[in-house]
Amino acid sequence: MIIRRIAVAAGVLACASLILGFTSCASLKKFAYEGFDRDSEQQPARVVEELHLNAGERVADLGAGGGYFTWRLADAVGPTGKVYAVDIDPDMTGYLKATAQQRGYGNVEAIVASPDDPKLPEHGIDLLFTCNTYHHIENRPAYFARLKRSLAPRGRVAIIDYRPEGFFQTIFPHATATDAITREMTEAGYKLDHRYDFLSDQSFLVFVPADARAS
Ligand SMILES: C[S@@+](CC[C@H](N)C(=O)[O-])C[C@H]1O[C@@H](n2cnc3c(N)ncnc32)[C@H](O)[C@@H]1O
Repeated sequence: MIIRRIAVAAGVLACASLILGFTSCASLKKFAYEGFDRDSEQQPARVVEELHLNAGERVADLGAGGGYFTWRLADAVGPTGKVYAVDIDPDMTGYLKATAQQRGYGNVEAIVASPDDPKLPEHGIDLLFTCNTYHHIENRPAYFARLKRSLAPRGRVAIIDYRPEGFFQTIFPHATATDAITREMTEAGYKLDHRYDFLSDQSFLVFVPADARAS
């Protein structure tokens, strides 16, 4: 608990320094997004396992940040698959591109997005994945409605975002209520396919287009 509080405080400090324009360093931003000891709460291995990705599939990591999930998703789809690491921040896409080269991830492509357009290819994305980014996106029903054209026929959208609960969310709100996500995605033309409840502070919801046939 103490470690988590220190990590949260460090994250707030890092964010504050960014907001105040002290630095634009990608590694500092990465630390602000990920802190340390994140895995114990985020359970990234279980998250990726529950998504049941297959080798060769195409995934978009919307708001990839420092790539916390990007590399894990890239491992899950393997060298014949592809992960589009999408972010509006060129510092982060530059970092992701360089890291993909350093680590030999030929299946990761960084894309500089605009706030209302992830600039993904049309058709063929098996999974649109987004973690801790949903609350940043403006006019989400329109954004995700447009993104339906990028999905493969059995494509899915997985959304993880903080729930607006607890002291930290009161002083530094960066969350979306679970009901609001479901309502907005329904408005965007999707239906809830799966809801996971194993993350302590975050919603983890998977949607499919409303007209998708049951498997
Ligand atoms: C809190 S970080 C999360 C990073 C990563 N997903 C993670 O879980 O560590 C949010 C990221 O979303 C990006 N972002 C914000 N609005 C966005 C948008 N409209 N489209 C794509 N990326 C966006 C930010 O630049 C930032 O890198």
